[in-house]
Amino acid sequence: MHSTEPEAVNSQAWTHYGAHHLYRPTTVPEVDRISWGFWPAGPGTEVLGVLSGLRVLDLASGLGKHAAHLVREHGTTVDAVEASATQHERATTRYGNLPGLRLIHADAVEYLMQATEPYDVIYSIHGFGYIDPHRLLPAVASALKPDGRLFFSVLHTNAVGRGPSQSVTARPEILPLAGGKPLTVQMWVLSPTLWEDLLVDNGLLVDRVDILDAPDDGNHVSVRLFRAHRRAGVSSGPQSSKSR
Ligand SMILES: C[S@@+](CC[C@H](N)C(=O)[O-])C[C@H]1O[C@@H](n2cnc3c(N)ncnc32)[C@H](O)[C@@H]1O
Repeated sequence: MHSTEPEAVNSQAWTHYGAHHLYRPTTVPEVDRISWGFWPAGPGTEVLGVLSGLRVLDLASGLGKHAAHLVREHGTTVDAVEASATQHERATTRYGNLPGLRLIHADAVEYLMQATEPYDVIYSIHGFGYIDPHRLLPAVASALKPDGRLFFSVLHTNAVGRGPSQSVTARPEILPLAGGKPLTVQMWVLSPTLWEDLLVDNGLLVDRVDILDAPDDGNHVSVRLFRAHRRAGVSSGPQSSKSR
């Protein structure tokens, strides 16, 4: 399935974003934990459990700093997929020589659909909100092993206090650009119930949803961290809601 119109807007925005940071250039410090929100507090890398020996995939990996952290500090090998050429270039410039990290320039869904060996763990930090869930989730399910685990964080309430949508449609959101004019992206900011329905429809069961609120007073931003797994014994692909 081809990417949708809102995704084309996002693709342009992230190409611009990556180019801006490449040529600025922007110094981004290394991380020593995964931050599922936009701040280094709350649940961290431990959410993923023990990873050594497992096939691990970072979807919409951006600069790749979280994947690099897992490789450096947790002895994991990670495949990291990023669609934007400029974001991918930032990642290869910085981590192209890190053994154990495979940086892949591809659309997440196209990559998942052609993945020949399924993954034990797939995670995404603020990536899922940019990809049409009707396109993304069947592909995620098909690339996960039975009982394979899925972790992703997504926006729930934005900076001006707007909460999630009650229908599976993308809406405009502002992407701040340090030292530049903010960009407009199209995001799927969905209620946890909608996310759960979409996951279940694709054979993915939700184990837990964490509420991650911004730690500073007056900041409305709130994120949800989903932990799910692929139902064993069920073939991947959209499931009939009657079979739940
Ligand atoms: C908010 S950034 C998150 C980057 C990274 N996960 C992190 O935490 O540092 C979102 C990233 O998703 C990427 N992205 C958006 N749509 C994508 C798609 N269809 N396939 C792969 N990557 C995509 C963007 O190019 C951007 O780099």
